[in-house]
Amino acid sequence: MRSKLLLAFKNSNNIVMGNDMPIVNMKDMLKHAYENNYAVGAFDVINLEFIEGVITAAEQYQSPVILSLAESHFEYFNFCLLMAAIETAAKKATVPVAIHLDHGKKFDSAVEAIRLGCNGVMIDASDKPLQENIRLTSELVTMARGCGVSVEGELGYVPGVEGVDAQQHPGEIKYTTVDEAKIYCDKTGIDFLAVSIGTVHGRMQGKPNLDFQRLKEINEALGIPLVIHGGTGLEDQQFKTLIEHGVAKINYYTALEDIASIEINQPAKTSDESRFPNRVKNIASEIRKEVIRCMQLWGSEGRAQEVLEYASPWQNIEHLIIYNVEGISEQDTIKMAIKGKSVLEKIPGVREVFIGESVKKKDAYRYTWLVRFCNQAVIDSYREHPDHVAFADNLFRPVAGNRISIDYLEIKP
Ligand code: 13P
Repeated sequence: MRSKLLLAFKNSNNIVMGNDMPIVNMKDMLKHAYENNYAVGAFDVINLEFIEGVITAAEQYQSPVILSLAESHFEYFNFCLLMAAIETAAKKATVPVAIHLDHGKKFDSAVEAIRLGCNGVMIDASDKPLQENIRLTSELVTMARGCGVSVEGELGYVPGVEGVDAQQHPGEIKYTTVDEAKIYCDKTGIDFLAVSIGTVHGRMQGKPNLDFQRLKEINEALGIPLVIHGGTGLEDQQFKTLIEHGVAKINYYTALEDIASIEINQPAKTSDESRFPNRVKNIASEIRKEVIRCMQLWGSEGRAQEVLEYASPWQNIEHLIIYNVEGISEQDTIKMAIKGKSVLEKIPGVREVFIGESVKKKDAYRYTWLVRFCNQAVIDSYREHPDHVAFADNLFRPVAGNRISIDYLEIKP
């Protein structure tokens, strides 16, 4: 099982990096887990130590894994910067990885998350009345489908906040009902459902009382992967029973935060030990131990290769246009390109827009657009998007009759 590690190379003391392996479609990843009775851990990460701890655990035990970012943690890190690190770690991993926005607060958070590289999103409207939750989730599903991105919905209410003592957020648990779950899933078309059956987010006292009968009925009625939030503090047997009844994704954070806090608060015996790099240097390996425990308990250990074969790879598309203009000046062409960039880069599923002019003025095509889509699905949704149609029909096509437009998929070595 660990022979793959021999093929990988070490790029630092701790993290093992392989050749570019695909980030995989999250829906496929969780379908595999659901059909094979195990659960994938979705570990909320807040800094490089967390990323390294989670990824090295997954590589060491050949497990699929989800790196997730909770919007409630955005005050602790720069989303854009951390996403760059996460995407690099995911692409270089030797195991299948999905990247997820956890508890997004609004629609725009999901658009931004997709632009930065998430291939799964959740907007948490579970505190809203059912019809409002359905409306907001449906809006998200329509946008995400156009980007090929998977969607998690939540129904019922799991109180608390990741990393915070549960008593500080004593909101009432609102249990998911089977009837509402059926209506919600049918109307929204979500890919996975987070259910409320007695867990709470954060650090809790005592053992939660889980309603397994309710979970069993929800699973029988829906037949889609179910998600448990508030993984910290559950007992081994509780995890096993959750997985028996359709839980394929377990969200886990507070226990990792506690481990990191204990590590950083160890009393320093020498002035050297009190130096910042020495305070943080063992955190990743401490987190790794707990993540390994979860992977072994939840049955995802050793599944990496199967998932890589089963799941479609997550691949960006380069939408290339080369063009010449007629009837407008060079200055107006550049103005048009800058205007287009600002409009087009806001379209969901667009990751980046490069506008350029040829280095040699005499080249056959003087100008270019290089638009990076997060996924092949964006080819259609982008073409039809009203902002693209308006810009292309009114400003671009009338002056750029001489153009070539092609979508490219990366050739992987
Ligand atoms: P815990 O912090 O209780 O493990 O919950 C994590 C979670 O549910 C993230 O969405």
